[in-house]
Amino acid sequence: MLRDPDLHVGAPRSRIDGVAKVTGEARYAAEHRAPDLAHGIVVSGAIARGRITSIDSSAALAVPGVIQVFTHENRRSTAWLDYNYQDEVAPPGSPFRPLYDAEIHFSGQPVALVVAEDYDAAAYAASLVRITYEAAEHATSLEAQAYKSYVPPKKRSGIKPPSPPRGDAPGAFTASPVMIEADYTHAVEHHNPMEPHASTVIWEGDGKLTVHDKTQGPQNSHSYVVAVFGLKADDVQVKNAYVGGAFGLGLRPHYQLFLAVMAALELKRSVRVVLTRDQMFTLSYRPHSLQTVKLGADRNGKLNAVIHAAVSGTSRFEDYQEDIVNWSGFLYQCDNAAFSYELAKLDTYTPSDMRAPGAATGMFAVEIAMDELAAETGTDPVELRLRNYADKDENQDKPFTSKELRACYAQAAERFGWSRRNPEPRATTEGRELVGWGMASGIWEAFMQKASARARLAADGTLEVATATSDIGTGTYTILAQIGADALGLRMEQVSVKIGDSSLPTSPIEGGSWTAASNGSAVMVACTAVREELFRKARGLDGSPLANVPPERVVFRGGRIAVADDPSRSVAISEVMRAAGLEVIEREETAQQDPATTKRYASYTHSAIFAEVKVDEDLGVVRVTRVVVAVAAGKIINPKTARSQILGGVVMGIGMALHEETMADHNLGRFMNHNLAEYHVPANADIHDIEVIFVEEHDDKISPIGVKGLGEIGIVGTAAAVANAIFHATGKRVRSLPITLDKLL
Ligand code: MOS
Repeated sequence: MLRDPDLHVGAPRSRIDGVAKVTGEARYAAEHRAPDLAHGIVVSGAIARGRITSIDSSAALAVPGVIQVFTHENRRSTAWLDYNYQDEVAPPGSPFRPLYDAEIHFSGQPVALVVAEDYDAAAYAASLVRITYEAAEHATSLEAQAYKSYVPPKKRSGIKPPSPPRGDAPGAFTASPVMIEADYTHAVEHHNPMEPHASTVIWEGDGKLTVHDKTQGPQNSHSYVVAVFGLKADDVQVKNAYVGGAFGLGLRPHYQLFLAVMAALELKRSVRVVLTRDQMFTLSYRPHSLQTVKLGADRNGKLNAVIHAAVSGTSRFEDYQEDIVNWSGFLYQCDNAAFSYELAKLDTYTPSDMRAPGAATGMFAVEIAMDELAAETGTDPVELRLRNYADKDENQDKPFTSKELRACYAQAAERFGWSRRNPEPRATTEGRELVGWGMASGIWEAFMQKASARARLAADGTLEVATATSDIGTGTYTILAQIGADALGLRMEQVSVKIGDSSLPTSPIEGGSWTAASNGSAVMVACTAVREELFRKARGLDGSPLANVPPERVVFRGGRIAVADDPSRSVAISEVMRAAGLEVIEREETAQQDPATTKRYASYTHSAIFAEVKVDEDLGVVRVTRVVVAVAAGKIINPKTARSQILGGVVMGIGMALHEETMADHNLGRFMNHNLAEYHVPANADIHDIEVIFVEEHDDKISPIGVKGLGEIGIVGTAAAVANAIFHATGKRVRSLPITLDKLL
């Protein structure tokens, strides 16, 4: 089908914020200025659990330029109830309160904030704060705490608890001719966005604050600040116009926001607090998990039983939960299934969502187990998955809104050249390297959340769309401009996008891969309302060329409203506005999924990912030389930014497979490799060919614009595909991530 060259939705478009970003015009949270700006440096605690017995700030206060040292002894009073500290995505429990009292809950806990006229004075003074502690026994090892695991008494909102069992999974498992049973683990990972967490609080006078916060949700930070400090909602505005990556770390407000606002209110001046890279490792992380997967099957690999159990770490004060185990129950058809998911308390900060939380970790285990089943039954891994293909969500007993996973397998396999694969492990070599090909499936939930947007069309034919979401590097600015431009037949340059500001129309945080579906639909609905109003005015003009034309017969194209099958009958938007005496047409609308859809259907994005590795067995070095991934995510608004999302997800998946691991010294109860030299993320040299295919998928239920979202799906399954390729290359089955060279030698 030929594309209409005037349309933007569906066409690859460069980021409209790209120039601002590469020229440095785009300011991030730590780059905003104020004439009276003071600088705060966080003093991090030295023990994992216990109490502060004394704090001596005298030497710090004597440093020239130091304004104040805030501790739990002199901080201003804040809200009392947990409720006030609980943000939009807080798990059940008591959120951590910075500088609240003498108690220490985790290593690196902020224990003081030194504020000075300049950064260097604050940093030097921070090194002079003398703190003594009384240490208590701590526990930071999940392996050591797992025996005390528990079912979280309160479920986290938005997270599905383990599905109830169906059939008789234990019985079916033991009766199966083929049984796969193994344990899987993966490391703690830290998000490590390039932009560190930072808040610049501008004191506007009279107790009014403008807060530039590193966050995925300006309204989430706004309500946190208002509730915690008991401020008037109108006195606080939170902005995050540009965000340098987040991956979930920006979903919840972090302690630098609290500290910067506290200091600004106390000092009645502007304050900036920026975390150092090592302090970034005192924030949330992807919790590691201990998983067991059991697959029972017949000799052809048809599943009889799926049993998936996981124990995951959380803090002592909050029950962070994610969905690790449910995926295995509906990705494949199986009559007998059982799931369990428990938590273990650790003396660490609360973990948080990190790109495809739960799915990235649960699917790594299931998809390696499926590869083990393929090897055991002598079935091709793709064929095995087709044999067990699920046509409905058996956990919830619901049909899918759409599912083009079969096409994902077919197109990615074809592109990869999978049919040429010699199934025998260790059979393929190239020079001194073993070559392996592996594959896996990916899945992620497709959400649409309620969101509002405003569209404002001016008489000069320019359009502004606004909604309080964020662009965390995903391309939100650009796709909202594309949607707005098409709705009113404008050029991209005629559309401006306002996001990253708590005062804009209500929006959820940017997360869960739901922004394109949710805010995109909201912009669409608001623009449609403007369009209808414009059309009414156009039709009512004296001698209107559109008189008596029904709305479904007109198109908005090139700044004009025209009769679709008779383009000679048209009128310019600017002419309509002028004739109607209108400066602007403005509409605010809310988009929301039909509740019947959520009730009746299940909706997911899917992928099939194929990886080639080359392994130097003498050195244990693995290179991922080729990846082909096919993704079915409904309508793709912008193939260029969409591809970037998948590339980023795959790169992060390769990091999960081979590099990323936060290691703790359990004697100290502290993460030790808290820097980018020792916490390895893939570098350019680690990344080779990655090819992304978007499979055509029509979904008229998930969202009004047919979008499912794709920020997370790229990471899901990637680590398993790499691990399976390593097995194919070497014959060695590694079930713990990352697969570092010591595990291969
Ligand atoms: Mo995502 S882990 O909801 O940013």
